[in-house]
Amino acid sequence: VKERVKRALPAPVLAVLLRLKARVLLRGAYAYDRRRFDLFSSTVDPYASQQNLASRITETYHNLEKGLSLPAPRPGFGVEVVARLVGYVQRYVALYGSDYVSTSAIATLASYRSFNLERGLDELQIPSNTGIVSLMSSVDSLPRGGVMEVRRDDILRATEAVGAEFFESRVSVRDFAAGPVDVADIEFAVRAAQKAPAVCNRQYSRVYLIDDPKKVQTALRIQGGARGFADHVAAVAVITTNLRNFWTAGERMQPWTDGGMFSMSFVLGLHARGLGSVCLNWSKTASVDRAFRDAFDLPEEEVIVMLVAIGPLPEQFRAAVSPRAPMNHALRRL
Ligand SMILES: Cc1cc2nc3c(=O)[nH]c(=O)nc-3n(C[C@H](O)[C@H](O)[C@H](O)COP(=O)(O)O)c2cc1C
Repeated sequence: VKERVKRALPAPVLAVLLRLKARVLLRGAYAYDRRRFDLFSSTVDPYASQQNLASRITETYHNLEKGLSLPAPRPGFGVEVVARLVGYVQRYVALYGSDYVSTSAIATLASYRSFNLERGLDELQIPSNTGIVSLMSSVDSLPRGGVMEVRRDDILRATEAVGAEFFESRVSVRDFAAGPVDVADIEFAVRAAQKAPAVCNRQYSRVYLIDDPKKVQTALRIQGGARGFADHVAAVAVITTNLRNFWTAGERMQPWTDGGMFSMSFVLGLHARGLGSVCLNWSKTASVDRAFRDAFDLPEEEVIVMLVAIGPLPEQFRAAVSPRAPMNHALRRL
């Protein structure tokens, strides 16, 4: 019927109707994203859940560690930030107990306190000293926190063996060898992904690994971009970012920026382990997004950034050339 109506309509009318339909769909998609950001992000209520508060704590202790890493931090800096952080951590531990979020924050506070003592402040002059000491005494041990010394030589040694070839030899693989992938290799790639920069170190992107063959096929069928090679995919990684980590209108796109950086590092991590991969877009309408969430029971508060199909590399295979624009397109001096 749709096709018959389309054929019956004069071309200019059809064009107007199609444009109208596209705009209505676009509005619907934005409304879907806006509703989800409204509902889960920390814009309205930073205390709505453990994850909302964890992201505030992370942002706040990051302000302190950032301050400590400057060339000449001022003793006693950050009075308001420290007070806020102590309050957040006390609240977090009371509600949810101690975990890596609270201990990382306390480790930063401990480092901040040491910094002030080393710079000659006495206990009474250190902002929120009583709160800091009480939090420090509530834990048996602390992870590394605050700042660390980094040696240029160590960085140069680690990067010496990495040349253009590492980046240029990565290609999207759409012709995988048979066989499973080793979870240790996936973990290696996840560790690489976790080292990606993220806004205020709110590092809460995640990889869901699907390696059950039937589930792999379900994921690829819903995604729809692996036609012709889906049968040979060993595993699918679903990369998500949690909306609870972001707040305010300005951060409405941040989940995809952070999730995109996380994804790239994940793909390079797979490449470093000799696994083939191809990113699969999550440029989806609300209905496809819903279908995937329902099939895999993904938490509502997370957005899907992309899928990555993974498999062993064949001895030899064909890959799309995918030419790149010239340097004068990609690099401009302002
Ligand atoms: C976010 C994203 C989504 C993509 N989606 C698909 C997809 O659905 N199907 C596919 O075959 N390739 C997909 N690709 C792979 C691109 O086509 C590929 O990265 C590009 O052509 C560059 O080629 P290269 O990866 O071999 O360097 C996607 C890539 C990205 C970054």
